[in-house]
Amino acid sequence: MVASFEMVKALLDESRRVVVLTGAGVSAESGVPTFRGIDGLWKTHRAEDLARPDSFAQHPELVWEFYNWRREQVRKCEPNPAHIALAEMEKHIPNFLLITQNVDGLHTWAGSHKVMEMHGSLWQVKCTVCTHAREDFSELPDLPECPVCGHLLRPGVVWFGESLVPGVLRLAIEQVSQADVFVSVGTSNLVQPAASFHQLAKDHGAVTVEVNLEPTPNTGLMDFALHGKAGEILPELVTGLLK
Ligand code: APR
Repeated sequence: MVASFEMVKALLDESRRVVVLTGAGVSAESGVPTFRGIDGLWKTHRAEDLARPDSFAQHPELVWEFYNWRREQVRKCEPNPAHIALAEMEKHIPNFLLITQNVDGLHTWAGSHKVMEMHGSLWQVKCTVCTHAREDFSELPDLPECPVCGHLLRPGVVWFGESLVPGVLRLAIEQVSQADVFVSVGTSNLVQPAASFHQLAKDHGAVTVEVNLEPTPNTGLMDFALHGKAGEILPELVTGLLK
């Protein structure tokens, strides 16, 4: 493991194109619950059962209560050393992209600029009928209404069963295909298309690295797997990057 660690450090030092994919594990040390961990329940509901268009259509008040609760939770959290290390990594790599599945906004808060929020953001709201969309950090009503047409607003996140914004996926695929190094951090690698990015990167010649608390279905396919807390491993990897 020590050898792997030093090798990954050297690799990052030499790389010009790096893509990092993050998941809920990167925010765990900030106190944001992961999706599939033991804390991934809200009341008696699984997050996965609420983050769905059909759940919103049937019970908009319940789904909004869940999202307003998540907004309140994240508001109390702060970026942790993993977020900060990734913001630092961006400064050292000429072509860098951070693709996150997280909707908490903590990467941006930590100072990352080259971030793609592929599942949207808790801080975005959009109209269910017209094109109104906005960033909104305020406390929202139980059932927020569109200021333009008066219809119901919804969270600006991508739910299960919904497509990613086409331009976002296209850019992600393009960048992953061109990476020298692909690093996956704090994701269970169970949700597509992100769970296949490592293979896409590898098929195009990238070296692949996983940083996660525990093995995932992708671990065996990675060139390097570093197991432990992202908030401890990433700062160590970034310390001393020369570029
Ligand atoms: N450091 C590193 N990894 C961690 C840490 C930590 N401190 N804490 C937890 N992990 C790991 C867990 O071991 C797990 O493998 O992070 C992973 C989190 O997995 P999930 O909860 O499944 O989250 P994620 O992979 O981001 O989920 C993907 O699924 O529900 C949807 O849209 C939602 O974006 C989400 C997507």
